[in-house]
Amino acid sequence: MLLRWGIPIAILLATIAALPFAYIAKARVSTSTKPRLHGWQDMDIQPMHNKQGETELFRDKRLMRPPVAGTVARGEDFLDTHLWQGRVVGRNGKLGWANAFPPSLTVDRDFLDRGRERYEIYCSMCHGYSGQGDGAVHQRVMLRKATSQPGFDAWAAPASYHTDAVRSQPLGQLFNTISNGKNNMAGYRAQIPAADRWAIVAYVKALQHSKPADAAGKGK
Ligand code: HEC
Repeated sequence: MLLRWGIPIAILLATIAALPFAYIAKARVSTSTKPRLHGWQDMDIQPMHNKQGETELFRDKRLMRPPVAGTVARGEDFLDTHLWQGRVVGRNGKLGWANAFPPSLTVDRDFLDRGRERYEIYCSMCHGYSGQGDGAVHQRVMLRKATSQPGFDAWAAPASYHTDAVRSQPLGQLFNTISNGKNNMAGYRAQIPAADRWAIVAYVKALQHSKPADAAGKGK
């Protein structure tokens, strides 16, 4: 009995034992559009929704839940609109651009030096060291456009700070441009802490006061 079935069973077991290796060998030389065998699921595979999508879970069907009434923001203290938004309550009782630095910051030489350092890291590559909108990145794009290299048609020239339109802006508005961007410029609130954004505002004002001159000594 044992002799009769022993050999076929041994062959069968050997074949089964070889299957994983055959599978691995095949997987190594072929491609598949299906996900690979996923023995232990962890939380890799789970139901997903679009943030803006719908759900049956809530009566208003909104998947993204509004904050609970009375929620207080943590981290950035949004009650200090001057420091975080560059806006203060004006005489008309409405919020408008602040034209002073937030009282919690000390505007001195160190502050300005910090602003210069941060400006040169975050802004100078586009706006240039003197704020004329002629930074290295802009010059490089101009060079490439001049030699008809494709892909630069959509390039928006960085603004100069020495135009009346920018020079007349209140400090808070400059702070807002740095924080949230403007038109084609992206915002920097995620990269630059608020105090440093104000320091950059101070340095941009210093640049504007220095009024870069052309070769004939005329201010632009
Ligand atoms: C990647 C390039 C780039 C960088 C980096 C950049 N900007 Fe700009 N900036 C632009 C462009 C482009 C515009 C013009 C936006 C428009 O009007 O379409 C602009 C516009 C501005 C303006 C004028 C806004 C107005 O009211 O017209 C100010 C002020 C300014 N940037 C300040 C800064 C400061 C300060 C930094 C550094 C924190 C900075 N930018 C970093 C590209 C840049």
